Amino acid sequence: MKIGDRHYRTIWLAEDGHTVEVIDQTLLPHQFVVLPLNDLAEAAAAIRDMVVRGAPLIGATAAYGMALAVRADAADGAIEQAHETLLATRPTAVNLRWALDDMRRLLLAAPTAERQALAYRRAAEICDDDVATCHGIGVHGKELIAEARRAKGGDGPINVLTHCNAGWLATVDWGTALAPVYLAHDEGIPVHVWVDETRPRNQGAALTAFELGSHGVPYTVIVDNAGGHLMQHGMVDLCITGTDRTTANGDVCNKIGTYLKALAAHDNNIPFYVGLPHSTIDWTIGDGVREVPIEQRDGTEVSHIQGLDGAGAIASVRTVPDGAPVANYAFDVTPARLVTGLITERGVCPASRDGLAGLYPEHAAGGPA
Ligand code: MRU
Repeated sequence: MKIGDRHYRTIWLAEDGHTVEVIDQTLLPHQFVVLPLNDLAEAAAAIRDMVVRGAPLIGATAAYGMALAVRADAADGAIEQAHETLLATRPTAVNLRWALDDMRRLLLAAPTAERQALAYRRAAEICDDDVATCHGIGVHGKELIAEARRAKGGDGPINVLTHCNAGWLATVDWGTALAPVYLAHDEGIPVHVWVDETRPRNQGAALTAFELGSHGVPYTVIVDNAGGHLMQHGMVDLCITGTDRTTANGDVCNKIGTYLKALAAHDNNIPFYVGLPHSTIDWTIGDGVREVPIEQRDGTEVSHIQGLDGAGAIASVRTVPDGAPVANYAFDVTPARLVTGLITERGVCPASRDGLAGLYPEHAAGGPA
């Protein structure tokens, strides 16, 4: 997507052909800084500290992290060690494991001398696949927005509510939940986005607002608790979110607070869609509430809030009493019964085992109950 008149992806190779470069998302929307990743440790830190975040981008960065590791040492043991180090960075987004397993399998099967070139080639393929996949999600999801507009008799913009950031900054390009919005907007379908600020890290207020604004899509930032009220008053036509892990049964794990939006949407008869690439489906588990590992992050993300101070510098302030106990569950699971449909690169399907199996027959056989 574009920032100013320059097209960016969220991750790319520097001119030297081996350093990886990313946009430092901890500084957005206030500063746009490109950060080089020179080795495995820097790639792991970038994921852990959320310099890069969003399930597909975490996977892409991990793939390049493996390439950086292999550049330093291409032995079997180093590959296993890199896999372990990167896998430990963030537990919930399954794209991380998907990319790491893919890289490890490919690399261990190759002669040592060929591993470095292979690793960089495969990481680039994973990135390109993500771009094409997210564009596909956009194509299918855009039809839902167009349909909602027809159902509304062409009256006013379609109001989409989204949570967290599942736009291009969370992927390599296009985004998942926001790809349909971008394609609809580019085609002239009037669309307006309600952007949940998404405490504690405010990915909605900081990142979704930044990218929608950069692309010229009308949006309004709301506090996380406003969605239910808007839905009761007919101000939301559909909800679209992303996901960090969708189970084979269609349960959807996403940023904390997504479940509450799905409950409110259900109560108000508002369609609740989830955009996801193939790499976000965890075919090994069924019951999301019981089986998806939920990341718990540092309490300072809850006790403090980051923004610009009066002098224009990025500052962090404490909002709770000194020493207040806090808890920081980063994700929750929305049961499939609350999800109207899953928007994938292969089409839209019901959030169910049969729905997913219909789109991905190669994964249909067997699997958990
Ligand atoms: O903690 P984050 O910022 O990595 O969480 C991101 C989300 O929850 C996104 O909605 C999800 O990764 C989907 S990304 C297209």
